Amino acid sequence: MTKIAVLGNGRVGGTLATALTRAGHEVTVADSTPGAAAAAARAARIVINATPGSDSLDRLAALREELRGRILVDVSNATADGPDGLPAGLIYPGSSLAEHLQEALPETSVVKTLNTMLFSVMTAPGALSQAPDAFLSGEDPWAKQTVRDLLKDLGWREEWITDLGGIETARATEAAILFVPHVIRTSGFTPFAISIAR
Ligand SMILES: NC(=O)c1ccc[n+]([C@@H]2O[C@H](COP(=O)([O-])OP(=O)(O)OC[C@H]3O[C@@H](n4cnc5c(N)ncnc54)[C@H](OP(=O)(O)O)[C@@H]3O)[C@@H](O)[C@H]2O)c1
Repeated sequence: MTKIAVLGNGRVGGTLATALTRAGHEVTVADSTPGAAAAAARAARIVINATPGSDSLDRLAALREELRGRILVDVSNATADGPDGLPAGLIYPGSSLAEHLQEALPETSVVKTLNTMLFSVMTAPGALSQAPDAFLSGEDPWAKQTVRDLLKDLGWREEWITDLGGIETARATEAAILFVPHVIRTSGFTPFAISIAR
């Protein structure tokens, strides 16, 4: 059992919190109520960022003390939305939100994962017709192993989890968000994951 704080109580946060609770973890969910994220992070060992990526950097940098020594699992995407409300561009082209978070939070181990799929796939990867990939990006091998174990609790098989390397590899997975509006326009919200065919 691990104490986990989920920041964000939307589609992603709610889905992850339910599945992690079912897996036996002690989960606290923080919504946008002032002070809720700080209190949840302070009491947790693992903190999951499931809030809008566009302003995550400011929000999480303000929690530097609360996040010290924690693993920060960043599943967010930092995008500018188009007129249809779908992601249309990257807020950190040539870099990534994950890299900025790691720089702003040097005493926190940031691990990027699960940002390359529809939220429902995060906790039901076996429901797709082909095996999906969950990518890991981060500097701290121990933190990545901890997140790998957490993914297994969510139904991910070892062979579906790919460690891409350091935090800079999050540039690739964050850029994959540019597929999403086109996938949704052609296939709707049918569950999908951006994966590497082998
Ligand atoms: N939806 C997907 O399939 C999907 C897939 C991969 C990655 N992502 C990423 O995951 C993140 C969440 O997506 P989502 O679809 O779950 O969005 P969502 O349904 O709009 O939920 C976002 C949640 O964040 C909360 N929030 C906003 N500011 C906050 C703050 N200061 N502290 C704590 N919570 C705060 C919102 O609370 P209020 O309602 O009170 O404002 C809301 O509950 C985004 O970065 C998104 O890019 C989404």
